[in-house]
This record gives sequence, structure tokens and C-alpha cells, in this order.
Amino acid sequence: IKRLGVLTGGGDAPGLNAVIRAVVKTAIREYDLSVLGFLNGFGGLIKNQTREMTEQDVVGILPRGGTILGTTNRDNPFHYPVVKGKEKVYVDISDRIFENVSIHQVDALVVIGGDGSLAIAKELYERGLPVVGVPKTIDNDLMDTDQTFGFDTALTTATEALDKLHTTAESHHRIMVLEVMGRYAGWIALEAGLAGGADVILIPELPYRIEQVIGKINQREQQGKKFSIVVVAEGAKPLNGEQVVQKRVEDSFDPVRLGGIGQVVARQLEEATGKEARVTVLGHLQRGGSPTAFDRILATRYGTGAVKLVMEGRFGEMVCLHGTEITSVPLAETGGRTRQVPLDSDLLHSARKLGICLGDNKEG
Ligand code: F6P
Repeated sequence: IKRLGVLTGGGDAPGLNAVIRAVVKTAIREYDLSVLGFLNGFGGLIKNQTREMTEQDVVGILPRGGTILGTTNRDNPFHYPVVKGKEKVYVDISDRIFENVSIHQVDALVVIGGDGSLAIAKELYERGLPVVGVPKTIDNDLMDTDQTFGFDTALTTATEALDKLHTTAESHHRIMVLEVMGRYAGWIALEAGLAGGADVILIPELPYRIEQVIGKINQREQQGKKFSIVVVAEGAKPLNGEQVVQKRVEDSFDPVRLGGIGQVVARQLEEATGKEARVTVLGHLQRGGSPTAFDRILATRYGTGAVKLVMEGRFGEMVCLHGTEITSVPLAETGGRTRQVPLDSDLLHSARKLGICLGDNKEG
């Protein structure tokens, strides 16, 4: 191996630059390789957009959010949109990737990405490209690693938001609903809710009944607690969700106008409890900014670990964290699979023990 390619794919996450830095430094210093960055995710590999990476290029990027290589969650080489006549059709243009890799004499590729990018990496590996993967997502929902980099920073951002919402909620005797990211898994909502002292946490893993949430808020009111903090993952759903939304539409309760699940929950709570509710959608604030110390270190360990995998010829694998150790798993086992919060996890158990209201995943 003489020349290493690297790209960042999918949504950004704090720590991407720290991985790039570790890959570049390790490859150059430790193994005397040259490194070529492909720009804007798989787009750079398809369209031949590259950047030669030297140690100078990674100076100062460790604490910086985003990715100096650019990223996108478009540009899937196996499902690439082209316009034919008046129609858009999707074709397999992965041949271009093999061509560009060969033009640049890249011997192996490090793909830093989430479920979508790692699924593409797996497919490329199966078609003969020497690839290793690095797991990234603020959602922490990738299979076969105990933690993805980016999650700790997002969790810290959400926890800080909860601390701030607490003081204003308390002053105004309001219900504060914080909607956080997490399409398929509730890691951010659950852990930020625990760290930030939430009264209610709603996650995709446990469909909720709004009556339970109303009950919790009324109970707090009776105890003289005049405010409540509700954390909702963007992917949280009510049991019989269709019916709830349907009923509200009939009442001219327009979910599109109201926005996401946070808005729906806040409006329902306001109506049922007579208390004022306000919503904060944390959105992409969770993806931006400087990585925490934990994420910088994890990202650095992943970067050095990925180059080590390359040098050992262990292609088709992804670096991962098991317990406290960096190890690896086959991409075939991870690509495209979601890791939700286990229903028997001690995190959920602790939340319940504290009396935090969670969905119950059962009719009742
Ligand atoms: O998967 C990471 C994530 O941040 C999700 O939590 C969120 O639903 C999604 O990306 C947002 O993606 P986009 O930036 O494309 O709107």
C-alpha cells in the first residue's frame, strides 16, 4: 500500500475533521503513505474531485466542526440520478469509482460515514475495492459499535439546551418541549433527558400514549411542580399515531403548519393541561460546532485504527468501539442496520426508576 484515499459521506458530525487528521498523520508519519482526499462524499469519487492531503492540510482542524473534505448524502453510485429525456432515472455508475481510483493509483480507501455511506462502502468492497469504514453519526444508531463519534457532542449540546430551558420553564411555570434529532433511535433524547433532568422522554423505541404524558404533568402540578420538561426524539411516535394525527387534522390541527412531533406534543399538552407550552427544535445545532474531548479522542482512535486495518490488509471491515477498546467488525454485518436503544437497557431502567415518563410500547 502506497497511496490511501479518504472521504467523508452522509450528514456531518463533530469529529469528522479529527478522523481526517488522524488518518493523514498516521498514514504519512507512521507508514510513509501519500493520502488523497475525495471531496463531497462519494460525489468526489464519481466526479473525480480530489485534494492531495499533506500534514500541513490538517493543521488546526482537530477542534473544528464540519469536514474539510465536504460531504453530502446524495451521490449513491449504485442509485445515481440521471436525466433521460424528460425523466429522471437511477443508474449504477459505480464503474466510474473504479476508474477514478485507478487513475489516482489509490490502493485503499477509508470511508468515514453513517449507515448509508457504510452500506455503499460494503458494496464497493464486495465488488473488489479495498475499503475500510469508520462509523459516524450523531444519532449513535449504528450497529456493532458501542459509540459513534459525534454523539457525545450532540448529547452535550442537547443537555446544555435542557439546562437553559429549565430556568425559563421554572420562571414561567411552563411546559418546555425540546425536540432533538434521532430518526430511528432515541439515544440523544434518552441520554440528554437523563443528563438534563427531563420529566418526560419520548423515543422511537417506545411508542407513547399522550394520556400518560398528560398524567405525568398533572401529577407534577399536584406536587407543586409548576413546570415540566419534555424531550422528544424527532422519530418518536404515538401508539395509534395515525389516529391521533387524523383526529387533529379534522380539528384543523395541521401538522405541516405546526412542524414536527415536538409541536404536535406541545399543542396536545397545552390543550389537555391548560398550561402554556413552548417548543424548541434543536435541529442542526446538534451537528455543528467543536467536538467534545471525548469525540476528539474517539475520532482520533478511529482514524489511527482505520489506517492500521488498511496496513494489515483487513479490508471490508469497520473500526468500532467495544467497551473501552477499538476493534473492528465486518462491514457486511453493520452496513444499513440500525441500533436502537435496547428495551432492557439499564439506561431505560434508570430513567423509569427516576419516575421519568417514557412510552410503554403496549396498548393500554
Ligand atoms: O442521521 C443524522 C441526522 O442528523 C438525523 O438525526 C436527522 O434526521 C438527519 O440527519 C437530518 O438530515 P439532513 O441534514 O439531511 O436534514
